[in-house]
Amino acid sequence: MQLEGIKALVTGGSSGVGRALALRLAELGATVIITGRDRARLDAVADVRPGKIIPVVADLADPAAVDTLIATLHRDHPDLALLVNNAGVQYLLDIAGDDPQKTLALAREEVAVNLAAPAALTIGLAPILKRQRQSTIVNISSGLAISPKASAPIYCATKAALGSLTRTTRYRMQDGKLPVRVMHVVLPLVDTPMTTGRGSGKMTPEAVANVITDGIAKDRDEVWIGKARLLRIIAAAVPGVAVRLLRNS
Ligand SMILES: NC(=O)c1ccc[n+]([C@@H]2O[C@H](COP(=O)([O-])OP(=O)(O)OC[C@H]3O[C@@H](n4cnc5c(N)ncnc54)[C@H](OP(=O)(O)O)[C@@H]3O)[C@@H](O)[C@H]2O)c1
Repeated sequence: MQLEGIKALVTGGSSGVGRALALRLAELGATVIITGRDRARLDAVADVRPGKIIPVVADLADPAAVDTLIATLHRDHPDLALLVNNAGVQYLLDIAGDDPQKTLALAREEVAVNLAAPAALTIGLAPILKRQRQSTIVNISSGLAISPKASAPIYCATKAALGSLTRTTRYRMQDGKLPVRVMHVVLPLVDTPMTTGRGSGKMTPEAVANVITDGIAKDRDEVWIGKARLLRIIAAAVPGVAVRLLRNS
């Protein structure tokens, strides 16, 4: 779809991949609503492209705040044509550890932000997206969806579920001949605050943002980036190897 002149929503636009993506979309001529919990961080991104980026505070772990965000979009942005479900959290936690209460709180937050919020935004904003001549939903996943690591069990599970949700949402849009494309983006390790102190050979958020916007512009269904592309090939050729590849990463 054409990006110039459209209205987009990028969740988690205050940092990392979401920030780079919002700035790239604005550079390509889109007006971009960005969300996050921290007003100052959102404003700092908006200040880079005055008038092109609209900051909206919303805690996606809170279902009431997600409902408010959906209502705000219906009221103020009925021309929304691109939804990017990017916001995410990853906690390293021990699913069989000795502090189940703390672990449960973190696990619930991960499910809320990484899975429940994208599902709610898809359901809540579909009426707007269906009305546009052309629109796109982009769900940001991870190579960890197909090769889960032991130390982030809930994160990996939410990303695997998001991949499934992406596919079934696409089925619904295609079967109903609706003008909504649904794009699955699978990222490798990217150099953002989420991965501080971890791994090497990371991609920059800007490089990732360029590939994603290129995929949106070319109406791609699947965009596997960098080493995630290699993982996809391994998974097709030797699934058992792929599943275990990142186990202790
Ligand atoms: N970095 C990687 O290597 C990597 C690899 C594969 C997939 N991904 C995926 O890429 C996406 C972006 O990750 P990133 O690396 O850019 O992470 P990041 O730099 O930590 O940014 C995460 C974003 O999500 C927002 N967020 C977190 N919790 C939120 C909440 N409760 N409500 C609203 N917003 C919330 C944050 O804003 P506030 O904290 O200000 O609320 C921030 O804008 C995520 O879905 C992640 O799973 C990343």
